[in-house]
Amino acid sequence: MPPISTSAPGVRQAAFRFRCISCGDLSDTARQDFRCVQCSDLLEITYPRWKEASPDPVELKSTWRNRRLSHHAIDLSGVWRFRDLLPAIEIDEQAITLREGNTPLYELPQCARITGVPRLFAKHQGLNPTGSFKDAGMTVAATFARLAGFRWVACASTGNTSASMAAYAARGGMRSLVLVPEGKISWSKLSQALDYGAVTCQLRTDFDGCLRLLQEIVLRAPVYQLNSINPFRLEGQKTLALELLEQLDWQPPDHIIVPGGNLGNSSAIGKALLEMRDLSLISHLPKLSLIQAEGANALVRTLREAAGKRLISVQAETRATAIRIGNPASWKKAVHVLEATGGACEQVTEIEIAQAKAEIGAEGIGCEPASAVTLAGLKKLVKQGFVKQEESVVLVLTGSPLKDPDFTMDFHRGDLFKGTADEAASAKLNKLRRPPIILDATLDAVIQTLEQAEKVS
Ligand code: F0G
Repeated sequence: MPPISTSAPGVRQAAFRFRCISCGDLSDTARQDFRCVQCSDLLEITYPRWKEASPDPVELKSTWRNRRLSHHAIDLSGVWRFRDLLPAIEIDEQAITLREGNTPLYELPQCARITGVPRLFAKHQGLNPTGSFKDAGMTVAATFARLAGFRWVACASTGNTSASMAAYAARGGMRSLVLVPEGKISWSKLSQALDYGAVTCQLRTDFDGCLRLLQEIVLRAPVYQLNSINPFRLEGQKTLALELLEQLDWQPPDHIIVPGGNLGNSSAIGKALLEMRDLSLISHLPKLSLIQAEGANALVRTLREAAGKRLISVQAETRATAIRIGNPASWKKAVHVLEATGGACEQVTEIEIAQAKAEIGAEGIGCEPASAVTLAGLKKLVKQGFVKQEESVVLVLTGSPLKDPDFTMDFHRGDLFKGTADEAASAKLNKLRRPPIILDATLDAVIQTLEQAEKVS
């Protein structure tokens, strides 16, 4: 089994180290499960050389800007463009890239009116090559998998990680093994993994069961694990925050709001914010807040019932299947970034998620259900006074609306809450529904429909 080492061929030596988030143990190598050899907690990547010679923030910003004019594959990637703050590779062509990142920052005028927050933006990670934020982490982690000599990569997933991993493995000439909970992920995500050639196993368990099994598999078989336990993934996902701040001319927004599932993405964004502050790229920290579905609220409970000191796992259940996770691996990292940035952690109901998703759809951009928790959460945070209406807010939309068309169809047809405890309460969403209308193919029928629609709008 090849070691996962900072001294693998092609990796620039001594440029980074693995550090345990609990005991602080520093190492040049990591076990296949990316856990500390001393205490078994998660690892993160650190850059000791920044202490000796801190990179010049003005120079960094100008380098990143200039790379936008370049046509080199590595500069066209919105992730590797920021490679000065990533684990270094020796040769640019070693990066496995699909031109990920470079995602737009949209204004949300209608949602701004709904929430009463005029300066409201969405960073839309659903516009990545495979339709989710996972690509930003995958380009880095898949690159290091190949540099370490692995032929196989593997992940447990609620769908997006597997789609992304399968794509990057295929681009990098590696095979991929996908473990997903049977019947609990959307067809479009599953179909992506098949399309990109993964060996796809639908296991009779939930996401947490898939991840547990994967942790055992990677210690037995020569496969490289690409879940967000893998710290290279989080380094790539940091670039979301770098790109966002660049889009805002390095003026931090007051709030960034992200969905929380396995809690890798919030940890990555928080790490980036703290590094940016330490490197004087920004003058102060935005508050990073995290929103979970009420039915998958492990972190909310961990903070409320155990003051963030021990994880309270839950049996997860939500139609936002991307975040149907009860035992989030990166919970300690997430607690740390929430505390460090002063952010909040909230939960939202299934009805609130469906409503927010329809409202983001009506902006003409759309997102998948898990991403919509951000808008639903913002409404709560405004009500609580945690977000002031004059403050600026960025919602991180993590996935494309095409990721879960069944949810959208069920919502508009009025089937989403049929037979559930929420059925009666969901009637208030009727005004947002736009069900497809079946008509005879006549001029009159269509004109009549148009006139009726005009009356109700
Ligand atoms: N939004 C979407 C669309 C996701 O797919 C995920 C996670 C999250 C939010 C939560 O991010 O786990 O970093 O807190 N999806 C994983 C997967 C678990 O397997 O695709 P997180």
